[in-house]
Amino acid sequence: PVINRADYRPPAWLVPEIALDFALSLDATRVKSTLKVERNAAADGSATLRLNGDGLVAQEVLVDGQAHNDWRMEGGDLLIDLPGDAHEISVETVINPAANTQLSGLYASNGMLCTQCEAEGFRRIAFFPDRPDVLSVYSVRMAGDKSAFPVLLSNGNPVAAGEAADGTHLAEWHDPWPKPSYLFALVAGDLVATRDQFVTRSGRTVDLAIYVRAGDEARTGHAMRSLIASMKWDEEVYGREYDLDLFNIVAVADFNAGAMENKGLNIFNTRYILADPETATDADYDAIEGVVAHEYFHNWSGNRVTCRDWFQLSLKEGFTVLRDQQFSADMGSAPVKRIEDVRILRAAQFPEDSGPLAHPIRPDSYQEISNFYTATVYNKGAEVIRMMTVLAGLDRFRKGTDLYFERHDGEAATCEDFVKAIEDGAGLDLAQFRRWYAQAGTPRVDVSLVHEGETATLTLRQTVPPTPGQPEKLPMVIPLRTALFDRATGKHRGEELLVLTEAEQSWAFDGFAQAPVLSINRGFSAPVAIRSPSSNEDLVFLAEHDDDPFARYEAMQQLVVQHLVAAVEGQLSDAERDAGRRAIGDAIAAVLADPALDDLMRGELLILPGESYLAEQIPAVDPSRVHDEREALKGWLGTTLGAAWRDLHDRCSAVPYSLSAEARGARKLKTLALVFLAAADAGEAARRAKAQYDAADNMTDRQGALMVLCGLETPERATALADFHDRFAGNMLVIDKWFSLQAGSLHPHAIDHVKALAEHADFTLTNPNRVRALYITFAANAGAFHAADGEGYKLLADLILQLDPINGNVAARCVPPLGRWRKVEPGRAKLMREQLERIAAVPDLSRDVREQVTRSLEG
Ligand code: ARG
Ligand code: ZN
Repeated sequence: PVINRADYRPPAWLVPEIALDFALSLDATRVKSTLKVERNAAADGSATLRLNGDGLVAQEVLVDGQAHNDWRMEGGDLLIDLPGDAHEISVETVINPAANTQLSGLYASNGMLCTQCEAEGFRRIAFFPDRPDVLSVYSVRMAGDKSAFPVLLSNGNPVAAGEAADGTHLAEWHDPWPKPSYLFALVAGDLVATRDQFVTRSGRTVDLAIYVRAGDEARTGHAMRSLIASMKWDEEVYGREYDLDLFNIVAVADFNAGAMENKGLNIFNTRYILADPETATDADYDAIEGVVAHEYFHNWSGNRVTCRDWFQLSLKEGFTVLRDQQFSADMGSAPVKRIEDVRILRAAQFPEDSGPLAHPIRPDSYQEISNFYTATVYNKGAEVIRMMTVLAGLDRFRKGTDLYFERHDGEAATCEDFVKAIEDGAGLDLAQFRRWYAQAGTPRVDVSLVHEGETATLTLRQTVPPTPGQPEKLPMVIPLRTALFDRATGKHRGEELLVLTEAEQSWAFDGFAQAPVLSINRGFSAPVAIRSPSSNEDLVFLAEHDDDPFARYEAMQQLVVQHLVAAVEGQLSDAERDAGRRAIGDAIAAVLADPALDDLMRGELLILPGESYLAEQIPAVDPSRVHDEREALKGWLGTTLGAAWRDLHDRCSAVPYSLSAEARGARKLKTLALVFLAAADAGEAARRAKAQYDAADNMTDRQGALMVLCGLETPERATALADFHDRFAGNMLVIDKWFSLQAGSLHPHAIDHVKALAEHADFTLTNPNRVRALYITFAANAGAFHAADGEGYKLLADLILQLDPINGNVAARCVPPLGRWRKVEPGRAKLMREQLERIAAVPDLSRDVREQVTRSLEG
């Protein structure tokens, strides 16, 4: 069944209050829910109350305290016809958390009980109008065995606790803030807490706790520091203060997503909480800081102001991603953070936008909402709001967000409400800009710069490509921060914001005796693909001179992209190949030598564009040619700049471990140097990687060295892998790394390694992190996944079919790599399609996988 945005109707009944009573047990938890229901004056006045359920059986139904038999089931939903305007409904059900492998609703993980309700998990716990525009005040009572479940948590504040003679105890929680059911949470288990406090700007003392399994407490410090920094930052930057006396976080090993913003009780995947230098990389530290902030920021952008319906998901997710990006930029290096954000957008969202699953940031229809927790809704959604900050400036944008929070506090709002508030508060006209919410596809901007006499004329043409269901598009509002550089001085005369609103527009710039060098979309001010036929000379100029760090990175990327795309397409003569390589080599040498760069930024400038981003630029691409050409360039750079890479590796290896930017920069460059050396001289790289591995006192160095060894056919490979496994046996998050490193490796037999790892005693289909570590990593490893005989596609399809009955949500996340078939050369395209068809032929697929496979075949 397809759900359409246009079909939205307000709920017929509201539920101002709900009381939940849980008798906890791993395999038979009794849930009694009591709902105060009121007819919604704003709705059409249906007498039927629809309570959504998914797999629930009503043991008993009471209406106004009386046993009631006049109800019926429709699918999983329970329907009751009610005469008057207000009633109290009680329903009792029994659920089995231990059998809940979908990890949606109430489930068991390592002996503890926990919940995940977004988007539609609450209906697997209790019958309820499970839609985000029904807001209720929750009172929760839970009782359970004290030794199995010593800690009992829910949203809001603890209001009562007690013990019984039979070894059970109970806790009661009350959340004063009305919330939709997707923000409900319950945790019961044997957990230990690390505690701290935060005093808000108005003087409220908030007790903070992070709950983990015993033994993990020592690895919560970074998450706690990140939480405190987030609370302070949201007060200072967005004027948002926390609104309860306590804030709890629980880390869970089995979790479908990254984390969840349940009111006052965030539940996290352990990978976004636990860190120490021995077991977590610098990237892990950054991800923890970002996700802890993201969930905390949801308290306002998501919880205080929530979504009217799931089509509005980007209202909370796009805005909250923008907020966490801004926070991380303020905590570390803003230019490096911006570059990383754009790299993620290009690697994850651009392919979505150009493929069969393309959808606008506010979708028009869906079958399974879980399939729309996408890079488009999240990351492109953030870019769209970021453009508003570019158009308004940060001060005016803040006036807009203040108005948004003030106007819609306590409401379930829409994307339109957000845009209107920014318009009114910031004083912008966003009439045409709203198309960003409605049109899918990455706009393309073709650039020409003509120089005549003293005048440079810049002409920009935009096209928004057709996407499924949207054959024709209207022009977008595209804000482009732009500068023109004088070749003689190496400087520009000031940046301008050019706002492209028509299909084609021109701007004239006077006073250029020589043709200037164009720097456009600086800071990546718009999420578009710029097509600008820049000469190598101009790109090298920008790579050296641009004062916008993102533009400098972009020039380096463009230099390599142009070269590799031409190489893959077979358009390079030997002389052109040499010239292209030399231009890249010179630019890299300049970056290596530039004393003004810090090492973190230097690292960004040295990272070659990824295979998936390169493949995006080439129609009917042969992925193995992209892989081979990119590796060949790496090898050439490894040889040509060999001495520089060795010096770099030596210099960086001498820097002691700390979390300072300098030390982190050194670690980033250290492994990057190994990567280039490995492409040139495997023997030397293996020796250096082995030395780095043996000397490592932190996971960044250890993982980097092992990553390089994993790609080499060298004896050091097996020894290091065995050592790593022994050293970290029992640490699930680090064993995940052990799986990923092998699944993502450049090794020619990576596919055989993946097959063997699927049979390894440590592999399991029931832990999403483990599945992702092996299979999502493998699917992103073009060299292995795109094996010409189709073995990689078959392997992924086998996994999807095996996993689907266990966890349809995670299985569906494995489908998109196969959906890329239209972009790939015909031989592989056919093999990919065959696997999709094989999956589609299976009769009882989950709704999640069914939708993704159908769209992938049709789109
Ligand atoms: N709201 C959560 C977050 O972004 C993610 C929930 C994921 N849910 C899902 N069905 N995939 O912070
Ligand atoms: Zn979120």
